[in-house]
Amino acid sequence: MNALDDPETDHELVVVRQDAASGLRAIIAVHSRALGPAIGGCRVSPYATMSEALKDAVRLSRGMTYKCAIAGIPYGGGKAVILADPATHKTPSLLRAMGAFVDTLGGVYITSFDSGTTRDDVRIMGEATAFVAGIAEGYDDASASTAAGVLRCMAEAWHSRTGRTLNGAHVAIQGLGNVGRRLAGMLLDAGARLTVADVLRGRMTGLDAQVVEPARIHAVEADIFSPCALGAVLNARSIPELKARIVVGGANNQLESPTDARRLGDRGILYCPDYLANAGGIVELHHQRLGQGYDAVAAHLLSLADTLREVIRRAGASGLTTAEEADRIAEARFGKRAA
Ligand code: NAI
Repeated sequence: MNALDDPETDHELVVVRQDAASGLRAIIAVHSRALGPAIGGCRVSPYATMSEALKDAVRLSRGMTYKCAIAGIPYGGGKAVILADPATHKTPSLLRAMGAFVDTLGGVYITSFDSGTTRDDVRIMGEATAFVAGIAEGYDDASASTAAGVLRCMAEAWHSRTGRTLNGAHVAIQGLGNVGRRLAGMLLDAGARLTVADVLRGRMTGLDAQVVEPARIHAVEADIFSPCALGAVLNARSIPELKARIVVGGANNQLESPTDARRLGDRGILYCPDYLANAGGIVELHHQRLGQGYDAVAAHLLSLADTLREVIRRAGASGLTTAEEADRIAEARFGKRAA
């Protein structure tokens, strides 16, 4: 089924641009602007078809609505996708054409980086539009704030289960990229013990951690499992093998299907909804746009942990999963229409 025929596609706006001069083929999807202009990164990927790209844009922009709402920032959900191989087709003229495309929407959608794009790419898009975020001078890579948000939520989840700090907790991290590697450093500083895995062995260099094969990281005898690589890692096959009692990680779309949240709950595993755990990066972009510094970001990241505490409390009272309770909080904030 085409994504636009799916009854779940309740988007405000989906726009396609095909520009022969630059070779740009791109889609911008705006899910909701109930809380403010739509914000979300621009992904560059060699999608085989327009339908595949559309499906991604629709899914990812909806996710951004939930992430902004749960993080308490005044933005709606949007996402852009460019059908191109980032290694070979991401030319400055393509990026400028994308910037011009963003500009045609007059601020309805604000773009930034995502998988396949860098801050430098966003700077080039910014030559053609003011509606870009995440490239202000004086800020580091926003992945550090994403990792810090994961850490805050992890500390909250662990405390809710044990009453303790992360000092001495054993955390298994899947993926040591922008987010996972920074999270690993923060956890070591907090006194945690680490087991890690990455398909790129060089990523583990110099880290005080036990290393296991990527295929086994989810099944390590750890206190906490932290997916920081791929989506769909929590599924009917992996969940029965989990030894950890808590899952908190930076990866997007960790649940393969909504029923996997129930599978985790039935096993007594506390799951921090991914879009809450990994909202730190978008929180930083919000404060960058306000010209505020890292003190404001840090204070806001603490509120992610407060939200998780409330999610856990509500799930305990209602019998719903933490994923369902987080969705309810987000939907109440952006005013999801009843189906
Ligand atoms: P990245 O590409 O820098 O890092 C991912 C790491 O996972 C790489 O080192 C890769 O080799 C490794 N990896 C891939 N497959 C693996 C496997 N099967 N087992 C173990 N390791 C594997 O990506 P980044 O930026 O760290 O993002 C990680 C996740 O967090 C992604 O799902 C991303 O969408 C999500 N995310 C990232 C944000 C950010 O600020 N960077 C913000 C919100 C979400």
